[in-house]
Amino acid sequence: IPVDTFDLVIFGGTGDLARRKILPGLFRRFAAGQMPEAAQVIGAARSDMDVTEYRSMIRDALKEFSDKAEQGDDVIDGFLEHIDYAQVDAQGDDGWDALREKLRDGVVRAFYFSVAPFLFGDIAERLKTRGLSDDQSRIVVEKPFGRDLETARSLNRTLATFFDEGQIYRIDHYLGKETVQNLMAVRFGNILFEPLWNSQFIDHVQITVAETVGVGGRGSYYDKSGAMRDMVQNHLMQLLCLIAMEPPARFEPDAVRDEKLKVIRALEPVAPNEVVRGQYEGAEGENYVDHAEDPRSTTESFVAMKVQVANWRWQGTPFYLRTGKKLRSRVSEIVVRFREPPHSIFGKDAGGRANELAIRLQPDEGMDLRVTIKEPGPGGMRLVDVPLDMTFAEALGPDAEEVPDAYERLIMDVIRGNQTLFMRGDEVEAAWAWTDPIIANWEEAKVRPAKYDSGTSGPEASLELLHRDGRRWRDIRT
Ligand code: BG6
Repeated sequence: IPVDTFDLVIFGGTGDLARRKILPGLFRRFAAGQMPEAAQVIGAARSDMDVTEYRSMIRDALKEFSDKAEQGDDVIDGFLEHIDYAQVDAQGDDGWDALREKLRDGVVRAFYFSVAPFLFGDIAERLKTRGLSDDQSRIVVEKPFGRDLETARSLNRTLATFFDEGQIYRIDHYLGKETVQNLMAVRFGNILFEPLWNSQFIDHVQITVAETVGVGGRGSYYDKSGAMRDMVQNHLMQLLCLIAMEPPARFEPDAVRDEKLKVIRALEPVAPNEVVRGQYEGAEGENYVDHAEDPRSTTESFVAMKVQVANWRWQGTPFYLRTGKKLRSRVSEIVVRFREPPHSIFGKDAGGRANELAIRLQPDEGMDLRVTIKEPGPGGMRLVDVPLDMTFAEALGPDAEEVPDAYERLIMDVIRGNQTLFMRGDEVEAAWAWTDPIIANWEEAKVRPAKYDSGTSGPEASLELLHRDGRRWRDIRT
């Protein structure tokens, strides 16, 4: 789908996210020859710099963070011609008139709030009252979208004062990942899976987002957040929704989001003994607490939990979620474990295990389906499990279009005006309403996270969470 010409203003244009993700994402589009010729990207920030200095900052960022920078300086120069800079005081009067002057009529206008959430209201208000936005303009907001239900509600209310819900694009970059959308394609584009997609045939589901990085330089943000707020409330929740939701009638924004919302609202409260918190420790200087401001911090860098979706489809099929930093390997995957066949005609000892569908988001995107076949050879009927493996890049062949990066896709969806892969305000609130009591319980009961060694699969208690149900996590070793 061609993209219309646009003016995209990035507030926080000199910040980390803009340099690491947003501008490299746009650059990929440009390098693929898919950026409209007259598109304009305006970095807006407090720093006093001119457009030449800003372009040189972006050039450095692309060289550091873009996998397309190797295409050479000419390509980068071409991209930089689309870039402008505006010095703007988000909480004051300066710079707004000059920024308005740069905007053109008759093109899509989008404002990306890549700034701390306390500035959302100030920026939204100035966009509206100073005539920078109109009914067609879009705003893009990044997580964290609040830190609990109350703050999320207040943010939603503030934004709603100035913009309609149809103009607000709340980013969860996990929804921009290719495999996440493939999850919907696999579920709803095939007849094979959907008839089995319920508790009668599925024993349980595992969702793992394991990272090898620690909190590093983000300690001061992360320590106030923790894995529950940073990952579970948003990314893991979205994955859970896409697996558990009913088929929407159409692949359209509200049809999809209505179904996701129903899943979140159907989640049972999580009992305290069904959630595990962990915090990594390592060598000197490598402990979680070395990066937190408070050396006695009890913030979790790991969470594992058992979640129940209380509806007809899922009654009796638990979803196990886990995410953590400084784990053994970088693996994000969803594992759907089917039940055993009801009766084995080959006898109990013939071998073979339950079917398993694994959908990998990281490190390589793909799926594998574990099926049982006969072990080759002249002996009796011995069964063996083999993976039907499909790494998308291989399956689609060398001529397939390159997989877009999550930010690249989501920004283009903003320009196209497609909200399907963005969170609606009520979804975000429902997700907080579910996570708040879990966090409140930790605070009240002063639950300390279990320590785990860096480079492992997390605390023992996380393994135990499944063992006591007679199950085990799929290994995260790659
Ligand atoms: C971010 C979190 O939203 O997602 C980070 O704030 C986390 O803590 C990151 O590292 C993970 O994203 P990805 O795309 O690398 O899996």
